[in-house]
Amino acid sequence: MYTRQNQKNLTSAQKKRFVAAVLELKRDGTYDTFVRTHDRWFVPDRDSKLRVGHMSPSFFPWHRRYLMEFENKLRALDPGVSIPYWDWTTDSSPVSSLWAEDFLGGTGRATDRKVMTGPFAHDTGNWTVRVGVSEAPYLTRNLGRPNNPIKLPTAAELQWALDATVYDADPWDSTAPDGFRNRLEGWAAPRTERWRNHNKVHQWIGGHMTGGTAPNDPAFWLHHAFVDLLWDRWQAKHPGAGYLPVRPLPLGDLQRGRVLALDEPMPPWNVTPRELLGHQGVYRYEP
Ligand code: CU
Ligand code: CU
Repeated sequence: MYTRQNQKNLTSAQKKRFVAAVLELKRDGTYDTFVRTHDRWFVPDRDSKLRVGHMSPSFFPWHRRYLMEFENKLRALDPGVSIPYWDWTTDSSPVSSLWAEDFLGGTGRATDRKVMTGPFAHDTGNWTVRVGVSEAPYLTRNLGRPNNPIKLPTAAELQWALDATVYDADPWDSTAPDGFRNRLEGWAAPRTERWRNHNKVHQWIGGHMTGGTAPNDPAFWLHHAFVDLLWDRWQAKHPGAGYLPVRPLPLGDLQRGRVLALDEPMPPWNVTPRELLGHQGVYRYEP
């Protein structure tokens, strides 16, 4: 059992060890395999294929397993490392310590969004982007989108998601009118806003974080560790509610074969949402 810490409490030695393990996975090719896996399962709901990772109920369990796989690789290199989480409702500034030279590095420069500082800067660090062929080989960011400003989700916006009394709802996609999953994943939004919560954070970071190859930016892991923690919070708040749908959708339902029920295996790991409803005995979150 290990602990995932709030990134703001990491010591500089802990930041160094996390960064070193990430850079080593990048060097040996493991990291890019993870980026490819994410991109492979980044299926929007306009496609009539299975959507396992996004715009579907298995958004939470799929990313939980994905993070655990990545964390296992980090811990094989350094057993003292785990994925820190980033609470974006409180650490909401583009100049917070998260984006400092000794951790994730800062935003991209104005001309081409190229990240110029920190260990993941192409020119001065050890980070070449290889997955996402139409993109340049350097990491890009546009923190806060200065030209078209966007703010990170507020505590009230997050609370709106945590207050949902059901896990997910028909039609189980980005248009689901209610449910914790779509409110937190962030497609369900008032008309005045296009993004909420999880999606808004991807947009606020900008650059690589806005597409299927988002894990090219190591910020991805810290963002999704917080999303994973929020699933725990929702479960604790609604002990009588659980993952939906419980059973595979009936014949004639347009979403049949496109979303996974509680006991259906999730590719690429052959593990079911039920097996990922908790993470007891594996890791815990520092409060
Ligand atoms: Cu994802
Ligand atoms: Cu995401």
